[in-house]
Amino acid sequence: MTNAFAIHATGLVKNFGGKRVVDGVDVAVPRGAIYGVLGPNGAGKTTTLRMLLGIIEPDGGHRTLLGHTHPRDASDRVGYLPEERGLYPGMRARDAIAFMGALRGLDLKAGRKRAVTLMEGAGLGHAADTRIRKLSKGMAQFVQLLGSVVHQPELLVLDEPFSGLDPVNQERLETLILAERDRGATIVMSTHVMAHAERLCDRLTIIAGGRHRFEGTVAEARGLLPMRAHYVPDRDEPGLAAYLPDGAVHQRDGWHFPVPDGGVEAALRRLIDGGHGIAGLSIERPGLHDAFVRIVGASALDATQEISA
Ligand SMILES: Nc1ncnc2c1ncn2[C@@H]1O[C@H](COP(=O)(O)OP(=O)(O)OP(=O)(O)O)[C@@H](O)[C@H]1O
Ligand SMILES: [Mg+2]
Repeated sequence: MTNAFAIHATGLVKNFGGKRVVDGVDVAVPRGAIYGVLGPNGAGKTTTLRMLLGIIEPDGGHRTLLGHTHPRDASDRVGYLPEERGLYPGMRARDAIAFMGALRGLDLKAGRKRAVTLMEGAGLGHAADTRIRKLSKGMAQFVQLLGSVVHQPELLVLDEPFSGLDPVNQERLETLILAERDRGATIVMSTHVMAHAERLCDRLTIIAGGRHRFEGTVAEARGLLPMRAHYVPDRDEPGLAAYLPDGAVHQRDGWHFPVPDGGVEAALRRLIDGGHGIAGLSIERPGLHDAFVRIVGASALDATQEISA
């Protein structure tokens, strides 16, 4: 059963200095998936990833990583980009990549060869012999990323891999993540950028204040919110809002409102009966960004209730 999962964890707990910063988090990462760990700053994402990898020990709960109850036993099959980046400044880029591979059991000579191939594949071949200290921050980060995949790990754990990268390097990273998935790797990544999670992740978990808030697919998260209608009147007239459902807001591109339970037909009939034309109408599922704000916002409300109870 757990073999279907690259990572399976239940009820993880971590206390720092008497404060519970992770409080009963579950994570189930199917093999071969791209899995997102989402949450606001301080939610406990990094702490959770560190527990999953065995870098720190949980104070409660159970976890297995690639079938091991001691995650470090699987260390050579795992690649990890930590939140705090750093490479030896004096090393050449391809040596730094090979060195990271060697730490995970890859032969150094094979590592150097693969490092050059990886850098060329990412469009960074020209920097293979450049020393780390001479690379820009984003380039150095990308080199570290390549160092986390050079030994071709079964499981790749990336903590905020997009932060600090310009749009071109962000796209390079998306390509790299998809290539790793196609190679057969399982990928776990934490991120604040919903657009990346929306494009890449098969499943995701959302934690806030150390607590589990959501687990499921991107479509399931988006499905938590009602559909939204975007209505463009043929001409803007005062008093139009009175004909629209509750919650309608006026923006530059027209009116937006949540689709009422019975659909938009009644609202449209009211508009037409009132003499208002329809220049445009579309109905959309809100994006992951809105779902995230809703899920995390709801948890903030829960916390308030707990405090006031
Ligand atoms: N070693 C530590 N000692 C004490 N407190 C810690 C330690 N590591 C993390 N914390 C606290 O635990 C909480 C969760 O931190 P964590 O770094 O896991 O959050 P995060 O979700 O990764 O946040 P971010 O999005 O900012 O990276 C924070 O309140 C943080 O201050
Ligand atoms: Mg973090």
